[in-house]
Amino acid sequence: MRHVDDVPAVRPGVARLCAAGDGGDANPGEVTQGQASKVPDDYRRRQTLKNAERFITPELKAFEDKALSAQERALAREKWLYEHLLNELQPHVPQLTRFGRAIAALDALAALAERSLTLNWCAPEFVAHPCIEIRAGRHPVVEARLAETSGAPFIANDTLLGPKARMQVITGPNMGGKSTYMRQVALIVLLASIGSYVPAQACRLGPIDAIHTRIGAADDLANAQSTFMLEMTEAAQIIHGATEQSLVLMDEIGRGTSTFDGLALASAIATQLHDRNKAFTLFATHYFELTEFPRRHERAQNWHVSAAESGEDIVFLHAIEPGPASRSYGVQVARLAGMPPSLVRQARATLEALEAQSRSGESQVDLFAAAPAAPAVTCSEVEEALAAIDPDTLTPREALDALYRLKKLQSTPKP
Ligand SMILES: Nc1ncnc2c1ncn2[C@@H]1O[C@H](COP(=O)(O)OP(=O)(O)OP(=O)(O)O)[C@@H](O)[C@H]1O
Ligand SMILES: [Mg+2]
Repeated sequence: MRHVDDVPAVRPGVARLCAAGDGGDANPGEVTQGQASKVPDDYRRRQTLKNAERFITPELKAFEDKALSAQERALAREKWLYEHLLNELQPHVPQLTRFGRAIAALDALAALAERSLTLNWCAPEFVAHPCIEIRAGRHPVVEARLAETSGAPFIANDTLLGPKARMQVITGPNMGGKSTYMRQVALIVLLASIGSYVPAQACRLGPIDAIHTRIGAADDLANAQSTFMLEMTEAAQIIHGATEQSLVLMDEIGRGTSTFDGLALASAIATQLHDRNKAFTLFATHYFELTEFPRRHERAQNWHVSAAESGEDIVFLHAIEPGPASRSYGVQVARLAGMPPSLVRQARATLEALEAQSRSGESQVDLFAAAPAAPAVTCSEVEEALAAIDPDTLTPREALDALYRLKKLQSTPKP
């Protein structure tokens, strides 16, 4: 085998030209003016320089053309080969498509089997009577995310729906786990319906013909659908489509309009789903007025996600329990989300005034009143100030200032 170093440094036609030069150290193809008359007849002059002439031979010219058109020819060849391959495959397309589908199905089934074993899922049981009964159900994606990030355990929850309990009105704090719970029920039903094991300890399902969901706030401006219009359009489709064998998820329906409009629509939609569609319905809401609904609708029940208060903070327990919740804890959640303390104080003061007003039916609340003065510094305010610091964006000087500010906050006498 020839080593790379053995390959001549110049091409044959050029080598001859060098030899024709005086001393062989001229550029390839270049001959000094003095020697130009000695070049062979078949050399063609290509360029005249100050002290030299450059020549080309027919052989070199042919090689140049070949090199310059190589890419084009390579592409043409590739295209030809590809078309040729397609032609050869053409008669086998039906078998190949069937084969592709079979491999895809096998892949999906193998993945579901692997997940079921690894994640400890169970085989659902299918029965003829209407029911959705899930013991210790989990949301597989939230569970996996929690394990990856905080390592916190996922709180499994039971679901019991049947002919006498077709609707759950679900209340509880923001961040409590309402949406997660509803989606986990839908995912379990979906997984069971496609023939998979499900993330639960036990699961029994009656016939389910469809899963309808109305979740989240989105719009479709390009198709003349504002946020609320889209919400109502989707809800209308559900009302028209859901049957006694459907599972319906309504996540905070009616929140895209004024409170009274929203509440009125939410209760009318709940009534329709309960009385006419009779679908299995999970109905999450922040309208506490709707916790009255089960009192007058025998197949509806109140459930809530539990939370515990500790001082100004709130701890989410994520367990679904019977009965209505009493509050939303929206202001606490906004505080946890990093809202400035003065904004949180203003919101809390307004909330208290609104609550007092609704209790007593008194005069109107000034929604835009200035935030009340900051109370004496508490330990948690030092923590808040600490949380607001982003060390990666501070200069050394700013970091030192921040440290002094924190020390000062901490040493401010408490009442
Ligand atoms: N069962 C659970 N176990 C552990 N963590 C949970 C559970 N349910 C929810 N969470 C955590 O709480 C977060 C918020 O849950 P979710 O969005 O369901 O709350 P929500 O009650 O719907 O709140 P909102 O009223 O603001 O819509 C989830 O992203 C998840 O991290
Ligand atoms: Mg939610």
